[in-house]
Amino acid sequence: MRTTANNLFLKSAECAGAGFAIATFLSGVMIGLLSPKERAANHWGVSASLLGLVGGASIGLIQKRESQSGVDNEPIKIDSQPTGEAYWKGWRNFTVVHKVKESEEITSFYLQPQDGGQLPQFEAGQFLTLKLDIPGQSKPVIRTYSLSDYPIPVAYYRLSIKREPAPPELNVMPGIASNYLHANIGEGSVIAVRPPSGKFVIDVHKSLPAVLISNGVGITPMISMAIACCYLNPNRPIWFVHGTRNGLSHAFRDDILALAQKHPNLHVHFTYSRPRPEDNGFYHSEGYVDSQKIKQLVGKEAEFFLCGSPSFMQSLQSGLKMWGVPDNQVFYESFERQASNSIEPQIATDKGITEAQIVFTESNRKLIWTMNDGTLLEFAEANDIYPPFSCRSGICGTCMCKILEGEVTYQQVPTADIEPGSVLICISKPRTSRVVLAL
Ligand SMILES: Cc1cc2nc3c(=O)[nH]c(=O)nc-3n(C[C@H](O)[C@H](O)[C@H](O)COP(=O)(O)OP(=O)(O)OC[C@H]3O[C@@H](n4cnc5c(N)ncnc54)[C@H](O)[C@@H]3O)c2cc1C
Ligand code: FES
Repeated sequence: MRTTANNLFLKSAECAGAGFAIATFLSGVMIGLLSPKERAANHWGVSASLLGLVGGASIGLIQKRESQSGVDNEPIKIDSQPTGEAYWKGWRNFTVVHKVKESEEITSFYLQPQDGGQLPQFEAGQFLTLKLDIPGQSKPVIRTYSLSDYPIPVAYYRLSIKREPAPPELNVMPGIASNYLHANIGEGSVIAVRPPSGKFVIDVHKSLPAVLISNGVGITPMISMAIACCYLNPNRPIWFVHGTRNGLSHAFRDDILALAQKHPNLHVHFTYSRPRPEDNGFYHSEGYVDSQKIKQLVGKEAEFFLCGSPSFMQSLQSGLKMWGVPDNQVFYESFERQASNSIEPQIATDKGITEAQIVFTESNRKLIWTMNDGTLLEFAEANDIYPPFSCRSGICGTCMCKILEGEVTYQQVPTADIEPGSVLICISKPRTSRVVLAL
């Protein structure tokens, strides 16, 4: 989808080309007419006219090639990151303006604000939080999805969502939000959205190579990062390493290849775990993405960005560590709620408190928490108090609530911005014998 903003840009360049041609041509003729006897003036006239025609024609040709490139969602190349409007507060309604199937499991949704207002620029790697009113659900379902594109200027937000099936070994419902979005949300639907957020972002202006490693739907923030780096810092070497089952599950293959063709700093490696015969020529290696593969492709003097399934993240994290990559050069984000708990906790569990009184003021409940009750979110849910949540990993900020008394301890490093006087209950346990929460 070429954006309205892009079209406006093309239009103005076309006008500039035409204006340039006409103005130069006319000034050339005028110089020639006003001084018909002067050889130098005549030369000037002829040269200026020709320059005008050639200049106009070249701009026209460049425009024609751009518009025929066939690479959709291609951002305009600019030198610096544009600054957008300030983020809105709370929920804002967005209309789905376009819905595109990217693979057998992943579908993209292009969103524009229903109020027609500005879209703030986001950082490549950030996500949006959605609120969905799903029939049959007792309360709105809140989920977070990474922004999977980096349009410059930002004319839409794109989310690319995998339809989550039920795990094969369990007799449970398939994923609530993802299946609802695939089946029931189409062009014209309206969704409530919170502003871009998240700290899994890339500093495009660094010169150290960036290695973007993903599997499955973990590809989404990586596309945004790759596009941002290609356009904002074409000198930064980028490795885009992605693993998937085969060509049927491979989303954005052509977009990434087209980007790499235009930007020599982008190197691509696709790994298929179960390629089909017809996939020959479309992938670079067979198997899974692991640290051995990464070592064969790049040196360890790089920044590594990881996003994918829990087993993939764990194997890469420990593989990179064993290779000697310092922790401060490895960045990761997990989409899976359980996974982030299994990724090495960076804050030790505070074992001091084994029992605490928890007061939920809005629910008017006083309850005793013991160390087997899990996080404060799990404890609340077990007692029929259902605060909003999304990631359950300290990433999105959805479960943030005011703490009126006492302290909590975090089981892992929170990455969401926490407002003063608030806590993330999805990854915290009580630290003091009494904790009062505005819930
Ligand atoms: C920062 C962040 C960014 C993300 N970005 C993306 C993205 O770009 N694209 C994307 O597709 N996703 C992304 N996600 C994941 C997304 O937020 C959702 O978690 C995902 O879509 C699943 O939500 P759901 O409501 O469809 O599934 P849920 O209803 O939450 O279910 C999840 C899974 O659990 C299974 N399940 C249901 N009940 C049980 C049970 N009792 N026991 C065991 N299993 C059960 C379901 O069948 C399903 O497979 C991101 C997550 C985070 C935290
Ligand atoms: S639910 Fe996302 S930070 Fe707690």
